[in-house]
Amino acid sequence: MAEMNRRELLGLGALAAGLGALGLGQAGEAPAASGEYELPKLPYGYDALAPAIEEKVLRLHHAKHHAAYVKGLNATLAALAKAREAGDLASISGLSRALAFHGSGHVLHDLYWRSMRPGAATQPEGALKAALERDFGSVEKFAAHFAAAAKAVEGSGWAILVHEPIGKRLLVLQVLNHQNLTVWGAAPLMVCDVWEHAYYLQYANDRAAYVDAFCKIIDWPGVAKRYEAATK
Ligand SMILES: [Fe+2]
Repeated sequence: MAEMNRRELLGLGALAAGLGALGLGQAGEAPAASGEYELPKLPYGYDALAPAIEEKVLRLHHAKHHAAYVKGLNATLAALAKAREAGDLASISGLSRALAFHGSGHVLHDLYWRSMRPGAATQPEGALKAALERDFGSVEKFAAHFAAAAKAVEGSGWAILVHEPIGKRLLVLQVLNHQNLTVWGAAPLMVCDVWEHAYYLQYANDRAAYVDAFCKIIDWPGVAKRYEAATK
Protein backbone atom coordinates (compact mmCIF):
# COMPACT_ATOMS: atom_id res chain seq x y z
CA MET A 1 0.00 0.00 0.00
CA ALA A 2 2.57 2.51 -1.16
CA GLU A 3 -0.02 5.24 -1.55
CA MET A 4 -1.18 5.10 2.05
CA ASN A 5 -0.16 8.41 3.55
CA ARG A 6 0.95 9.25 7.06
CA ARG A 7 -2.48 10.41 8.20
CA GLU A 8 -4.03 7.10 7.19
CA LEU A 9 -1.29 5.20 9.00
CA LEU A 10 -1.95 7.30 12.08
CA GLY A 11 -5.65 6.68 11.62
CA LEU A 12 -5.16 2.94 11.61
CA GLY A 13 -3.09 3.26 14.75
CA ALA A 14 -5.74 5.35 16.46
CA LEU A 15 -8.45 2.87 15.49
CA ALA A 16 -6.30 0.04 16.79
CA ALA A 17 -5.76 1.90 20.07
CA GLY A 18 -9.48 2.59 20.42
CA LEU A 19 -10.40 -1.00 19.75
CA GLY A 20 -7.69 -2.16 22.10
CA ALA A 21 -9.20 -0.14 24.92
CA LEU A 22 -12.37 -2.17 24.48
CA GLY A 23 -10.55 -5.45 24.23
CA LEU A 24 -11.23 -5.48 20.51
CA GLY A 25 -8.89 -5.78 17.58
CA GLN A 26 -6.59 -8.74 18.01
CA ALA A 27 -5.14 -7.88 14.62
CA GLY A 28 -5.15 -4.19 15.38
CA GLU A 29 -3.18 -4.31 18.63
CA ALA A 30 0.04 -3.91 16.70
CA PRO A 31 -0.63 -2.59 13.20
CA ALA A 32 1.41 -4.36 10.56
CA ALA A 33 4.46 -2.48 9.31
CA SER A 34 2.66 -2.00 6.01
CA GLY A 35 -0.21 -0.25 7.80
CA GLU A 36 -2.62 -2.78 6.36
CA TYR A 37 -5.24 -4.62 8.35
CA GLU A 38 -4.63 -8.33 8.90
CA LEU A 39 -6.92 -11.29 9.49
CA PRO A 40 -6.71 -12.08 13.22
CA LYS A 41 -6.13 -15.66 14.33
CA LEU A 42 -9.01 -17.41 16.01
CA PRO A 43 -8.57 -17.71 19.80
CA TYR A 44 -9.32 -21.47 19.46
CA GLY A 45 -9.18 -24.22 16.87
CA TYR A 46 -11.63 -24.48 14.00
CA ASP A 47 -13.16 -27.57 15.63
CA ALA A 48 -13.35 -26.12 19.15
CA LEU A 49 -16.95 -24.88 19.04
CA ALA A 50 -18.55 -28.09 17.72
CA PRO A 51 -21.27 -29.23 17.92
CA ALA A 52 -22.73 -25.70 18.23
CA ILE A 53 -20.71 -24.57 15.20
CA GLU A 54 -19.06 -27.27 13.14
CA GLU A 55 -15.46 -27.13 11.96
CA LYS A 56 -16.29 -26.65 8.27
CA VAL A 57 -18.56 -23.69 9.05
CA LEU A 58 -16.02 -21.95 11.27
CA ARG A 59 -13.14 -22.56 8.86
CA LEU A 60 -14.98 -21.18 5.84
CA HIS A 61 -16.40 -18.26 7.79
CA HIS A 62 -13.01 -17.17 9.12
CA ALA A 63 -10.63 -18.08 6.30
CA LYS A 64 -12.85 -16.98 3.43
CA HIS A 65 -15.57 -14.56 4.54
CA HIS A 66 -13.76 -12.61 7.27
CA ALA A 67 -10.62 -12.61 5.12
CA ALA A 68 -12.60 -11.05 2.27
CA TYR A 69 -13.65 -8.12 4.47
CA VAL A 70 -10.06 -7.51 5.52
CA LYS A 71 -8.97 -7.62 1.89
CA GLY A 72 -11.82 -5.30 0.92
CA LEU A 73 -10.95 -2.84 3.68
CA ASN A 74 -7.31 -2.63 2.61
CA ALA A 75 -8.28 -2.33 -1.06
CA THR A 76 -10.76 0.45 -0.25
CA LEU A 77 -8.18 2.47 1.67
CA ALA A 78 -5.74 2.08 -1.20
CA ALA A 79 -8.42 3.15 -3.70
CA LEU A 80 -9.27 6.21 -1.59
CA ALA A 81 -5.61 7.24 -1.54
CA LYS A 82 -5.40 6.76 -5.28
CA ALA A 83 -8.59 8.77 -5.86
CA ARG A 84 -7.28 11.67 -3.81
CA GLU A 85 -3.97 11.58 -5.62
CA ALA A 86 -5.72 11.63 -8.99
CA GLY A 87 -8.30 14.21 -7.93
CA ASP A 88 -11.01 11.65 -8.70
CA LEU A 89 -13.59 13.05 -6.29
CA ALA A 90 -16.48 11.34 -8.08
CA SER A 91 -15.40 8.00 -6.64
CA ILE A 92 -15.28 9.18 -3.01
CA SER A 93 -18.96 8.51 -2.30
CA GLY A 94 -18.93 4.89 -3.48
CA LEU A 95 -15.64 4.20 -1.75
CA SER A 96 -16.98 5.68 1.49
CA ARG A 97 -19.81 3.14 1.39
CA ALA A 98 -17.28 0.39 0.78
CA LEU A 99 -15.19 1.63 3.71
CA ALA A 100 -18.18 1.43 6.08
CA PHE A 101 -19.14 -2.04 4.80
CA HIS A 102 -15.73 -3.69 4.87
CA GLY A 103 -14.48 -1.81 7.94
CA SER A 104 -17.54 -2.73 9.98
CA GLY A 105 -17.39 -6.28 8.62
CA HIS A 106 -13.84 -6.65 9.88
CA VAL A 107 -14.52 -5.14 13.31
CA LEU A 108 -17.65 -7.22 13.91
CA HIS A 109 -16.08 -10.51 12.83
CA ASP A 110 -13.06 -9.83 15.02
CA LEU A 111 -15.44 -9.52 17.98
CA TYR A 112 -17.65 -12.42 16.87
CA TRP A 113 -14.83 -14.95 17.29
CA ARG A 114 -14.22 -13.68 20.81
CA SER A 115 -17.93 -13.56 21.69
CA MET A 116 -17.85 -17.37 21.85
CA ARG A 117 -15.79 -19.83 23.86
CA PRO A 118 -15.32 -23.60 23.87
CA GLY A 119 -16.03 -25.73 26.91
CA ALA A 120 -18.58 -25.44 29.68
CA ALA A 121 -21.30 -22.79 29.40
CA THR A 122 -20.75 -19.55 31.30
CA GLN A 123 -23.17 -17.01 32.76
CA PRO A 124 -23.07 -13.24 33.29
CA GLU A 125 -21.77 -12.35 36.75
CA GLY A 126 -20.90 -9.33 38.89
CA ALA A 127 -21.28 -5.83 37.47
CA LEU A 128 -22.28 -7.11 34.04
CA LYS A 129 -25.07 -9.23 35.49
CA ALA A 130 -26.29 -6.24 37.53
CA ALA A 131 -26.28 -4.05 34.41
CA LEU A 132 -28.26 -6.62 32.42
CA GLU A 133 -30.81 -6.80 35.23
CA ARG A 134 -30.97 -2.98 35.43
CA ASP A 135 -31.41 -2.40 31.69
CA PHE A 136 -33.42 -5.47 30.61
CA GLY A 137 -35.28 -6.52 33.76
CA SER A 138 -33.40 -9.78 34.24
CA VAL A 139 -30.74 -11.91 32.57
CA GLU A 140 -33.50 -14.13 31.22
CA LYS A 141 -35.35 -11.17 29.70
CA PHE A 142 -32.11 -9.94 28.13
CA ALA A 143 -31.52 -13.41 26.65
CA ALA A 144 -35.01 -13.51 25.15
CA HIS A 145 -34.63 -9.95 23.79
CA PHE A 146 -31.20 -10.66 22.25
CA ALA A 147 -32.26 -13.96 20.67
CA ALA A 148 -35.43 -12.40 19.25
CA ALA A 149 -33.40 -9.57 17.72
CA ALA A 150 -30.94 -12.03 16.15
CA LYS A 151 -33.61 -14.36 14.80
CA ALA A 152 -35.62 -11.53 13.24
CA VAL A 153 -32.87 -9.58 11.44
CA GLU A 154 -34.16 -8.89 7.92
CA GLY A 155 -31.75 -10.54 5.53
CA SER A 156 -28.06 -10.32 6.50
CA GLY A 157 -26.95 -8.72 9.73
CA TRP A 158 -26.10 -8.98 13.39
CA ALA A 159 -27.51 -8.77 16.89
CA ILE A 160 -25.16 -6.76 19.08
CA LEU A 161 -25.01 -6.04 22.81
CA VAL A 162 -23.54 -2.58 23.25
CA HIS A 163 -22.76 -0.12 26.03
CA GLU A 164 -24.04 3.36 25.17
CA PRO A 165 -21.77 5.80 27.03
CA ILE A 166 -24.00 8.91 27.18
CA GLY A 167 -26.94 7.16 28.83
CA LYS A 168 -24.52 4.70 30.46
CA ARG A 169 -26.76 1.79 29.58
CA LEU A 170 -26.73 -1.47 27.69
CA LEU A 171 -28.66 -1.76 24.44
CA VAL A 172 -29.36 -4.55 21.99
CA LEU A 173 -28.95 -3.44 18.38
CA GLN A 174 -30.20 -5.22 15.29
CA VAL A 175 -27.71 -4.31 12.57
CA LEU A 176 -28.37 -4.76 8.85
CA ASN A 177 -25.41 -5.84 6.71
CA HIS A 178 -22.48 -4.71 8.88
CA GLN A 179 -23.04 -0.99 9.17
CA ASN A 180 -26.73 -0.03 9.14
CA LEU A 181 -28.89 0.77 12.19
CA THR A 182 -25.98 1.36 14.52
CA VAL A 183 -25.81 3.89 17.37
CA TRP A 184 -22.72 6.09 17.20
CA GLY A 185 -20.34 5.87 20.12
CA ALA A 186 -21.82 2.67 21.48
CA ALA A 187 -19.16 0.10 22.37
CA PRO A 188 -19.90 -3.41 21.07
CA LEU A 189 -19.55 -6.01 23.83
CA MET A 190 -20.88 -9.18 22.17
CA VAL A 191 -22.11 -9.94 18.66
CA CYS A 192 -24.03 -12.71 16.92
CA ASP A 193 -23.52 -12.98 13.16
CA VAL A 194 -26.74 -13.99 11.40
CA TRP A 195 -25.53 -13.75 7.83
CA GLU A 196 -26.38 -17.07 6.15
CA HIS A 197 -22.66 -17.86 5.80
CA ALA A 198 -22.54 -18.13 9.60
CA TYR A 199 -24.92 -21.09 9.79
CA TYR A 200 -26.42 -22.29 6.49
CA LEU A 201 -23.97 -25.16 5.89
CA GLN A 202 -24.95 -26.67 9.23
CA TYR A 203 -28.43 -25.43 10.07
CA ALA A 204 -29.80 -24.77 6.55
CA ASN A 205 -32.63 -22.26 6.92
CA ASP A 206 -33.11 -22.85 10.67
CA ARG A 207 -31.52 -19.62 11.87
CA ALA A 208 -33.36 -19.90 15.18
CA ALA A 209 -31.58 -23.18 16.02
CA TYR A 210 -28.22 -21.55 15.24
CA VAL A 211 -29.01 -18.52 17.43
CA ASP A 212 -30.08 -20.77 20.31
CA ALA A 213 -26.82 -22.74 19.95
CA PHE A 214 -24.78 -19.52 19.81
CA CYS A 215 -26.37 -18.26 23.03
CA LYS A 216 -25.12 -21.36 24.87
CA ILE A 217 -21.47 -20.71 23.95
CA ILE A 218 -21.26 -16.97 24.68
CA ASP A 219 -17.98 -16.08 26.39
CA TRP A 220 -19.51 -14.16 29.30
CA PRO A 221 -16.19 -13.63 31.12
CA GLY A 222 -14.91 -11.98 27.94
CA VAL A 223 -18.05 -9.84 27.66
CA ALA A 224 -17.54 -8.78 31.31
CA LYS A 225 -13.97 -7.64 30.56
CA ARG A 226 -15.16 -5.50 27.66
CA TYR A 227 -17.98 -4.09 29.81
CA GLU A 228 -15.47 -3.17 32.50
CA ALA A 229 -13.20 -1.47 29.92
CA ALA A 230 -16.15 0.42 28.43
CA THR A 231 -17.42 1.72 31.78
CA LYS A 232 -14.27 2.55 33.74
FE1 LIG B 1 -19.91 -13.44 9.00
